[in-house]
Amino acid sequence: MSRAFDLVQQDPNRVIIFDTTLRDGEQSPGCAMNLEEKLKMAVMLDDLGVDVIEAGFPVASAGDFEAVHEIAKTVKNATVCGLSRAVKGDIEAAGAAIKPAESKRIHTFISTSPLHMKHKLKMSPDEVLETVTKSVRLARSFTDDVEWSAEDATRTEDDFLCQCVEAAIKAGAQVINIPDTVGYTVPQEYGAQIAMLLARVPNINQAILSTHCHNDLGLGVANSLTGLANGARQIECTVNGIGERAGNAALEEIVMALRTRQDIMPYTNDIETTQISKISKMLSTITGFSVQPNKAIVGANAFAHASGIHQDGMLKHAQTYEIMTPESVGLTESNLVMAKHSGRAAFRSKLKELGFELGDNALNDAFARFKDLADRKKEIFEEDLVALVEDESHYEHEAIKFVSLQVQAGTSGPQSADLCLSLDGEEQCVKVEGNGPVDAIFKAIRELVPHKDAHLQLYQVHAVTGGTDAQAEVTVRLVEDEKTFNGQGADADTLVASARAYLHALNKLLAKRESVNPQTAVGVTL
Ligand code: KIV
Ligand code: ZN
Repeated sequence: MSRAFDLVQQDPNRVIIFDTTLRDGEQSPGCAMNLEEKLKMAVMLDDLGVDVIEAGFPVASAGDFEAVHEIAKTVKNATVCGLSRAVKGDIEAAGAAIKPAESKRIHTFISTSPLHMKHKLKMSPDEVLETVTKSVRLARSFTDDVEWSAEDATRTEDDFLCQCVEAAIKAGAQVINIPDTVGYTVPQEYGAQIAMLLARVPNINQAILSTHCHNDLGLGVANSLTGLANGARQIECTVNGIGERAGNAALEEIVMALRTRQDIMPYTNDIETTQISKISKMLSTITGFSVQPNKAIVGANAFAHASGIHQDGMLKHAQTYEIMTPESVGLTESNLVMAKHSGRAAFRSKLKELGFELGDNALNDAFARFKDLADRKKEIFEEDLVALVEDESHYEHEAIKFVSLQVQAGTSGPQSADLCLSLDGEEQCVKVEGNGPVDAIFKAIRELVPHKDAHLQLYQVHAVTGGTDAQAEVTVRLVEDEKTFNGQGADADTLVASARAYLHALNKLLAKRESVNPQTAVGVTL
């Protein structure tokens, strides 16, 4: 039996939180993650307490298959789900990829709207209906937990949708997903569609209904919550609302709305909301997609009170202008943690507290960089250590390593970069002029490691903490053959952080080339 179905049977107000950050989110432009990043996110999602992690689309590529398979081996609590079209090979790949999971689900889908059936599938409604039964039956041969989705459900005719849902349940699906694939519906219409299915499908009590609402009209969360109010018991969502086009319903908004308005939405879930800020930040760092400052729950201004009237009210009574506390989503005051004279043991123990256990070499390198940072920056906060250690962890196994950088910048040009890199262990240096220091640095990297088919799509700089001596956290995105590679770098010197971020992205690109064609892409000797 599906674990989710079982949970809702036991408690009719239980809402299953189905996270699709690593599938619908990851497939949107610029959000690609490598295996290591997907695993890191999966572990964090498991800690957050989501019920289901949709880990990917196994048939899409060998990399997608491996990621789902590794996540299935790693995740301890959540159900691990693999997506498949209603195609034999897809379902078999999904079944094989999720096999090691403690609790596993196959999610299979086919379009049901007249538009999609005619123009995309070129199938008649009868053929689609027959395929629903066959695909769900095949999926059931791999696991008891099968979810079936009617792609473009919100533009599907009621009678046909009811027939398909009934067939899917009869074939063994216990979760029925009603996607608003193109973000077209509005709350009252979506709620009525969920209520209609519950009223009309004869075997509906053998399954739970699920929402999957895209955000093209900015209604993803509102539609999902209206679906819930009308009887749906699973919500599909993503961290920071990433996903195809305008994205999906944002997990953090759904969960905090449910928590804050228990009075009118008395539903339960297992989410540990204090983990929300951490996972949101991690996803932004990995993908280079920062959230807008005024984004609900996780934006930088979500808990900032700037106007005098609001500040005055807050001082008198926090609830005057605060409907939820920053602590409830895991935001705490920045902690001043270390100083210049802190020793190696204190450094190691602080890192452990922050969740990092480094090997001896990595610890030595990180400690040396910490000392260097402490010389340059008056106060070191937890955020500084996290940025520094994450930056360090990128470099451990990379073929191209940053060695040194001198930059000539300012008004009396030409601006130039004098850069040394270690390429497969051999140090090489070059001095290059550019249109500004960043341009000079990136040109210098291109000169030492030619990669003419890749282009720079994103260059973004953030301050890790406040103050003019704050560390810069830089994201660089390179694109080659429509594949994106995000790199991050952190340093008190923005230009050094920029070089490190570019090298991180380039190392990922070279590693990908090597995995695709080991003969032609050997290390950095291009
Ligand atoms: O938006 C959609 O319809 C989907 C399906 C695969 C569920 O993502
Ligand atoms: Zn979707």
